[in-house]
Amino acid sequence: MARPRLFLTTAALAALLLGGGAIAQPDPVSTRKDGLRRMQANLEAIGAVANSGGNTRDTVARADEMVAFFRDLPLLFPPGSDGNGSKALPAVWSDRPGFERAAANATTAAEALRNTAASGDAAATGQAVRAMGSACGACHRNNRSR
Ligand code: HEC
Repeated sequence: MARPRLFLTTAALAALLLGGGAIAQPDPVSTRKDGLRRMQANLEAIGAVANSGGNTRDTVARADEMVAFFRDLPLLFPPGSDGNGSKALPAVWSDRPGFERAAANATTAAEALRNTAASGDAAATGQAVRAMGSACGACHRNNRSR
């Protein structure tokens, strides 16, 4: 029974080698769009809990996810990933320091949101949600087309 298994393994290897280009990395544009939509959903969900005076501690995991996402955000915009239906403006690459600063500001806002949510103070969490929203908008102004 070793023989058929060896055959399959060899065939799989050949497919891998021949189709190497086709087994590509996921498209960075769709990856980041999916992620950004998810961050939008996180922000809205946290805002809804804060505005209804709910237990904001339940939203800490969402805020943690936002911290991690914005820390790594620049990696989702590699050079040359401006096609494929992307709405990223050239400034993402031509003013990289500005783009990275905006991502760092968003990370700081997400950390503040996380800490406020963990405190359980719904009103303060609502304010932190609005501050987070400003950090999103500040980056979009220079780096995203409509
Ligand atoms: C450092 C810059 C930056 C920050 C911060 C940022 N964004 Fe964006 N966002 C972009 C860029 C650039 C695009 C366009 C991406 C593309 O089309 O390739 C975008 C696109 C989006 C989209 C559209 C995704 C789609 O499906 O086309 C949503 C939704 C979004 N951002 C939400 C947010 C939210 C919510 C925040 C804050 C919690 C945020 N963004 C923070 C730069 C940023």
